[in-house]
Amino acid sequence: MLIMNVTMVAVVWVGAHQIDMGKIQIGDMLAFMQYAMQAIMAFLMISIIFIMVPRASVSAERVADVLDSEPSVKDPAKPAQVPKLGGRVEFKNVSFVYQGAEDPVLQDVSFIAVPGETTAIVGSTGSGKSTLINLIPRFYDATAGQLLVDGVDVRDMTQADLRERIGYVSQRAMLFSGTVRENITYGRPDATDDDVAYATEIAQATDFVNNLSGKFESPIAQAGANVSGGQKQRLAIARALAKKPEIYIFDDSFSALDFKTDAALRHALASETKGKTVLIVAQRISTIMNAEKIVVLDAGKVVAQGTHHDLMQSSPVYHEIASSQLSEKELAEI
Ligand SMILES: Nc1ncnc2c1ncn2[C@@H]1O[C@H](COP(=O)(O)OP(=O)(O)O)[C@@H](O)[C@H]1O
Ligand SMILES: [Mg+2]
Repeated sequence: MLIMNVTMVAVVWVGAHQIDMGKIQIGDMLAFMQYAMQAIMAFLMISIIFIMVPRASVSAERVADVLDSEPSVKDPAKPAQVPKLGGRVEFKNVSFVYQGAEDPVLQDVSFIAVPGETTAIVGSTGSGKSTLINLIPRFYDATAGQLLVDGVDVRDMTQADLRERIGYVSQRAMLFSGTVRENITYGRPDATDDDVAYATEIAQATDFVNNLSGKFESPIAQAGANVSGGQKQRLAIARALAKKPEIYIFDDSFSALDFKTDAALRHALASETKGKTVLIVAQRISTIMNAEKIVVLDAGKVVAQGTHHDLMQSSPVYHEIASSQLSEKELAEI
């Protein structure tokens, strides 16, 4: 820029004298100025390219890395044909280490979740509950041991077949940009209006959807930015219900609901999920107290499993969690 401006001043300086002496026309000087400008601009562009090229090559390498990355979860060459037997989930000595981590997050986890029962998983934050649950839809593969769905190792099924059986509500309820209806029918695009309304009713979201100006056609912003945490959770639950899967997975999906809605939802859910396999991760003991089986997880290990009543007596970890949440009266009732 300095060179360019100095050149301009020089051209005008010299040109002005030449015009004054009558040697050149004013138009000649202006034309000369244009040519000088173009030549200097071209050099400027070259220097800009020298700055951009290394940046672009680094970015291109990163994009290529993403495109070339091999998914660690692959479909088997010869997938097993698995009849739908209700969705029994069995963990057999499952251990799991996150890639690049040193310590296993799950160690030797074994339990069975059978159709018709609710299996709850409790434990402190970071004890590996979400990791455990994320192994079922095969977001990761177990490092050791086996995970069986309907008696077949999940690695022998196609991902589409496996996930077809599962209704999953993640810990961070996720909505997509689109309408309320599109979000609910995401897992089953052919769901009828009645199906959608029914799923919404069970998920206790009818009132709030009816209060939206466009009802089921109301827009949802990207990542559900225009609805509250509890509303997001309820829509995510409705989405799982609309799919009518065999296995329901709720990862801390009731945490943002008030106690009244939580209770109403669980009551409605109980009749809807009859005969299905239900896995619930929850922080609140009241949410999972009535589960047929409670698995207590501590630092990635199963320390106890049984009913609420059994665990209150046999498991100090469970007793501690329960007594920190329930009143004296509630504890005495057990
Ligand atoms: N993607 C990940 N990569 C590496 N470590 C992880 C990842 N996700 C979770 N962890 C670790 O695994 C442990 C268990 O996490 P998580 O299963 O989310 O616990 P919980 O759901 O019981 O709170 C934590 O110590 C956490 O730091
Ligand atoms: Mg979690």
